[in-house]
Amino acid sequence: MSFQKVCKVQDIPEDGPLGVEVGDTPVALVRTEGEIHALHDVCSHAEVRLSEGDVYDGTLECWLHGSCFDVRTGKPTGPPATRPVPVYRVKIDGDDVYVSLSKES
Ligand code: FES
Repeated sequence: MSFQKVCKVQDIPEDGPLGVEVGDTPVALVRTEGEIHALHDVCSHAEVRLSEGDVYDGTLECWLHGSCFDVRTGKPTGPPATRPVPVYRVKIDGDDVYVSLSKES
């Protein structure tokens, strides 16, 4: 799938997530350490929105049970989640943020 425009860079709070929809797919955007990352916006543990959690140390923390997911890989860094969440490709063009739902290679 091609890249789709989802928001402006400034719409994403520094060190805070922003939830968007790409088609029917929920995506959590994270701006941290000068980079923007996109993760599937559903926790792999119990299907709540990760974009309602907090960002720190390069991870997005699930608000419900506290698992943290590496924003680059989607892998959980601690329990109770054991499965990664998908990550998506991000492209910046000027102030515009684009996300592609196709798998990263
Ligand atoms: S729902 Fe996310 S860690 Fe349990």
